[in-house]
Amino acid sequence: MNRRSFLATTLLVCSVLAGGVQAQTKPAFKPKADLVQTFNKNYKDAAAQYKVLMKGISGDEFPRSYDAKTNKLVTSGSDWWCSGFYPGTLLYLFEKTKDQSLYNEALRIMKPLAKEQYNKGTHDLGFMMFCSFGNANRIAPKPEYKEIMLNSARSLATRFSPTTGTIRSWDSEKQDFIVIIDNMMNLELLFWASKVSGDPTFRDIALTHANTTMKNHFRPDYSSYHVINYNPETGAVKEKKTAQGYADESAWARGQAWGLYGYVVMYRETKDAKYLEQANNIAGFYLNHPNLPKDKVPYWDFNAPNIPKSLRDASAASITASALIELSGYVDKTTGAKYIADAETMLRTLSMPKYKASLGTNGGFILKHGVGHFPKQSEIDVPLTYGDYYFVEAMKRYQELGK
Ligand code: GLY
Repeated sequence: MNRRSFLATTLLVCSVLAGGVQAQTKPAFKPKADLVQTFNKNYKDAAAQYKVLMKGISGDEFPRSYDAKTNKLVTSGSDWWCSGFYPGTLLYLFEKTKDQSLYNEALRIMKPLAKEQYNKGTHDLGFMMFCSFGNANRIAPKPEYKEIMLNSARSLATRFSPTTGTIRSWDSEKQDFIVIIDNMMNLELLFWASKVSGDPTFRDIALTHANTTMKNHFRPDYSSYHVINYNPETGAVKEKKTAQGYADESAWARGQAWGLYGYVVMYRETKDAKYLEQANNIAGFYLNHPNLPKDKVPYWDFNAPNIPKSLRDASAASITASALIELSGYVDKTTGAKYIADAETMLRTLSMPKYKASLGTNGGFILKHGVGHFPKQSEIDVPLTYGDYYFVEAMKRYQELGK
């Protein structure tokens, strides 16, 4: 091969790997009329469901799930990683329905949530504060929201170690430094904080964390480990394992979804082609996996035993659909059309009675059949607050994509 054709081939390979970075003009996208109709009905039904949910909680309880056996909501305090999803879902539904009572309830529950801005004991501040205050600030900006989110970013940044090049996920024994793939979801808050404060430190932490995660969390097939344990003194990887998946070497479905969503955000915020390539590769693993059912709602782990009798995880489908819809806008038309078609299938499936609860059931949650922590036998085949949040977000993104 001469030098010119080598260069041309290299460029072609790079652009294919990057998912066609050069073709980033908005795709000529037209939402499917029947799906838009379905989604409009879903918003109305979801708003009615969330009014049921609202009635079931009081004070500073945050809805987390529902126990059908006892007909009781499972709730948490504001420091649980899921506390931002309830206000976040209410805010999305308010935008879609203009129902003021949803907005008022979001503002009510955000009051006891606000104190978590100073919580340095969790890495989940992105989930908790950006899905809630981030959406509230997008709808009606307030200096108070900005301050809360900046403080949240400051708290999150205290968990960063320059030695490991990562943010600490779970507090652990002194000799361990635990990072989970879910942590990719907390970086969006840091990008926001750098833009608003002018302080590049937050962004630099996000970039370093994402680069280290890309190096250590992924297997050659672009599936990811759930947990990496680093040596806090040297930054060396000590262990690669799972906590919520089936096995250390398996692909826990929601973990794959968090990784995908995380690298889509990384590309949005940096326009660095390596993150787009990573997102495309993760999507490729997920969408082409022989164990992904035709209706595209995954089993809770791609390697779960007893497939096809294993449980599905609706939350992983919601997160993945939302990520794919955004990703479709960054790739060439053909790839984008495939991502949209797959997301459509996911959302169509989730809109069916098998997954979408009928009014007054399911404790007021929108979706059924999520799997929280299978190995701990916790939250098995139940509604999950984050499943609802990303389901509504995905529908909203779909409808707004062509605009
Ligand atoms: N660890 C957060 C999750 O269950 O996805």
